[in-house]
Amino acid sequence: MKQQLEQIEKSAKEALCGCASLAELEELRIRFLGKKGELTAVLKQMGKLSAEERPVIGQLANQVRSDIETALSERTAQLKSAAQAEKIKAESIDVTLPGKEQSVGRLHPLTTVMREIEEIFIGMGFSIADGPEVEYDYYNFEALNLPQGHPARDTQDTFYITENILLRTQTSSVQAHVMEQQKPPIRVISPGRVYRSDAVDATHSPLFHQIEGLVIDKGITMADLKGTLEMLMKRLYGEDCKIRLRPHHFPFTEPSAEVDVMCFHCHGEGCRLCKNEGYIELLGAGMVHPKVLVNCGIDPEVYSGFAFGLGLERIVMRRYSIQDMRLLYENDLRFLSQF
Ligand code: DAH
Repeated sequence: MKQQLEQIEKSAKEALCGCASLAELEELRIRFLGKKGELTAVLKQMGKLSAEERPVIGQLANQVRSDIETALSERTAQLKSAAQAEKIKAESIDVTLPGKEQSVGRLHPLTTVMREIEEIFIGMGFSIADGPEVEYDYYNFEALNLPQGHPARDTQDTFYITENILLRTQTSSVQAHVMEQQKPPIRVISPGRVYRSDAVDATHSPLFHQIEGLVIDKGITMADLKGTLEMLMKRLYGEDCKIRLRPHHFPFTEPSAEVDVMCFHCHGEGCRLCKNEGYIELLGAGMVHPKVLVNCGIDPEVYSGFAFGLGLERIVMRRYSIQDMRLLYENDLRFLSQF
């Protein structure tokens, strides 16, 4: 029996050394020290021993038990601290590693300037109206005094979807929607995308953006139009900015004008940018044609108004000295990250 006990101690210690996990340790504890374990099995045979042998073997058995318990708890502590060390190692942060750069998104220049213009008009008491990009011929042309066969329709190279549905060629199409839905006084701008079947080049794109303006009230005159646009341009280009109105023709305004802004590069002197004009054409405008008012159920004897339509791309290109319009649509980060 003495031999058996010594054998148990030896194999328990060996097994403990080779044991790699806390779960395995528990199995070993049950195997050696448990109620049905090896040590218990030996002790059950104590009855067969003589009276002299019993206390000797009993003492040895106790010794073996306590040795195994000690070894078990030492091994448990070892495994726990190894696991802890492993965890710390896995979690450790190398503060000398280079950081991960976070790239921050920015607004597209078209969006930035569009929002700026919206803010300027909101400051002047305008509200923002929205209109469909897929539009009836009626709103894009007919209501605006451009009946079927009108020559000015040709200048707008329209994408037709059906005979009377098209992609709007101008934000002026929103005018009739607004006048149908609101009673004067009306003071709205309507920014958005417009479409024309133009070939792409440095100054043309089949998709571009316009901002329409419409003001209808009693006693509105050309002076209100000029004052409003002057205010816009001063806010956009600086207090010393001047505008000039040139007579022009649009079917939906009478009188009509094209509005030029003083070249901010040469301040009116004439340079390459403004083709020696001193001024750069920016938008079309005029007093809303009485026929348009009538088409929209507004009495031209009582009300008058002005309208204008400006091209956003032009303003953005002037603002940032961008020579080629295509850059605004190509989404090339080398270009966009400059803004
Ligand atoms: N819709 C015109 C265009 O696309 C611009 C325009 C001119 C709008 C005169 C207006 C206006 O509201 O009164 O060329």
